[in-house]
Amino acid sequence: MSILEARHISKAFGGIQALDTCSISVEQGEIMGLIGPNGSGKTTLFNVITGYEPADKGEVHFNGTSITSARPDHVFSLGLGRTFQLTRIFSRLTVLENMHVAAQRRGSRALLSRWSSRHEQKRALELLDFVGITQHKNELAGSLSYGQKKLLEFAFILIAEPKMILLDEPAGGINPTLLNHLSERICELNKRGVTFLLVEHNMEFVMGLCDRITVLHRGAKIAEGAPEDVRKDPLVLEAYLGG
Ligand SMILES: Nc1ncnc2c1ncn2[C@@H]1O[C@H](COP(=O)(O)OP(=O)(O)OP(=O)(O)O)[C@@H](O)[C@H]1O
Ligand SMILES: [Mg+2]
Repeated sequence: MSILEARHISKAFGGIQALDTCSISVEQGEIMGLIGPNGSGKTTLFNVITGYEPADKGEVHFNGTSITSARPDHVFSLGLGRTFQLTRIFSRLTVLENMHVAAQRRGSRALLSRWSSRHEQKRALELLDFVGITQHKNELAGSLSYGQKKLLEFAFILIAEPKMILLDEPAGGINPTLLNHLSERICELNKRGVTFLLVEHNMEFVMGLCDRITVLHRGAKIAEGAPEDVRKDPLVLEAYLGG
């Protein structure tokens, strides 16, 4: 059963056809990779799915509900979380304060200055530990390395306990040790039932982690299947080598 389905999505920016009748279907419980050369439309597809960019054409369904043209906060409240290629955390707040904001975004009515419950604060600390950045909890988020910011953003969305998570280049800037840690965390969440769609240029990471991979080129899907099949697909090789 598919949890996320985007059908025939087209999106142009002026003369640039970022997405051209592009479809993708992600099964409940899988880890799907989304790869393709720079500018092939991966982030635009994430933006359309999560309501950050309106599509020119096409439909999106999540967990049995149409989210075509839905607003980002509505998509998020249905259980579809995402991270950004360039992280969107609050640089002038500490790591823990960022988690506080995340908890409030989830819908608690606490005053900004207070955690609504001990439980929520405990959970925030657990999640920082889960992604591996506890030791930075009192540092300003803006002072973190690029990789650590990505991990904070991951923890930030986990507080809402999403059913599905879209990750845009989660491995970018993350050192090899943290990268292994991240891989394990994604697997662990997946075992607990969270579905993933992830964009990533680190092929080793993608191939090792994903059940299936979809390949975009110039806004269209050119291949889809098991990692071992996709990596030797002539169309895929040509897209990467030919630019
Ligand atoms: N807001 C925008 N305004 C104009 N052009 C855009 C905009 N967003 C994306 N594009 C263009 O659409 C195309 C697809 O971009 P997109 O960011 O989706 O690619 P991508 O596959 O995520 O690339 P990368 O791997 O470099 O992140 C590119 O040609 C890009 O320049
Ligand atoms: Mg991108």
